[in-house]
Amino acid sequence: MSIGKIEGITSTESFTISITDMNVGRNDYIEVEHEGKKYLLIIKDVKRCGNKLLGECIVIGQTPKIPFSPGSDVYLASSDTIRKGLGLVTTEEEGLYIGKLKSKDIMIWLPIKKLTRVFIVGKPGAGKSYTMGVIAEELIKKGIPLVIIDAHGEYSSLKIPAETPSEEFKIEPKSYANNIIEFADLTFNPGADIDISSLDNMKVEDIVSQMQCTIINLRGLPTYEQYSIVGKLLKRLLEAIMIMQIPPFYLVLDEAHIFAGRSKMKDPVVKETIEIVRRFA
Ligand SMILES: Nc1ncnc2c1ncn2[C@@H]1O[C@H](COP(=O)(O)OP(=O)(O)O)[C@@H](O)[C@H]1O
Ligand SMILES: [Mg+2]
Repeated sequence: MSIGKIEGITSTESFTISITDMNVGRNDYIEVEHEGKKYLLIIKDVKRCGNKLLGECIVIGQTPKIPFSPGSDVYLASSDTIRKGLGLVTTEEEGLYIGKLKSKDIMIWLPIKKLTRVFIVGKPGAGKSYTMGVIAEELIKKGIPLVIIDAHGEYSSLKIPAETPSEEFKIEPKSYANNIIEFADLTFNPGADIDISSLDNMKVEDIVSQMQCTIINLRGLPTYEQYSIVGKLLKRLLEAIMIMQIPPFYLVLDEAHIFAGRSKMKDPVVKETIEIVRRFA
């Protein structure tokens, strides 16, 4: 059923609608047919004028050549239109499941083959590390090797399954402990697998290997030592990549600003680590 009509002046990127369905509001996705094609829009703002509700809509994805037609009926967008408009075309087989679109029953898969470099940005506490944890689980499930530089010791929780399944998100609790090797200072992190002092003696093939996620937990170590460990490890991994001694893998750099940002520290070890880390990017 129509939720409103296009009113007034339109462009190829936006229009205003008079809303007739009072359950529709800000951030709802709508669709409209124009010149034989369906377009996806989002209601960015709603204004009240007397007892009339006006929604300001902007196009997401493809825009038409000719402005939208005033008087056209608009509808709540179907899942299909939302998927196409947002470019959510990846299937389960070739994707990493990261959850559902907010307030929608639309599962989202990130395309593994197109990921290459990924930046997760947001304010502190926004959920960056959590999101990375979800992506890490998905990579482990697919058997893709991972090395996680874990400045705060947050990723060892990947070894512990969630307490309850989530029917809403269609996920079963699972421990990935059998696929994870965690290096850490064992005095601070007794739950880790191997003391970080042994990292230098490990073969690169045992650090990066199919079906394996290696966590380098730096919690409790002095800053200088953290730089030294990361620099030395990544230098070895870079050399191993060059001679194809190890398979392709994902490097996760939580708190990336520490190891790849601008540092005021003049220390050569810090400088060299930052240089090596940046070569990965
Ligand atoms: N999608 C989510 N569902 C439930 N809790 C979450 C979600 N994302 C983050 N959290 C929780 O919010 C808090 C902050 O998340 P975190 O990933 O550490 O933030 P950031 O790395 O951006 O600083 C943590 O306690 C985390 O468990
Ligand atoms: Mg974090």
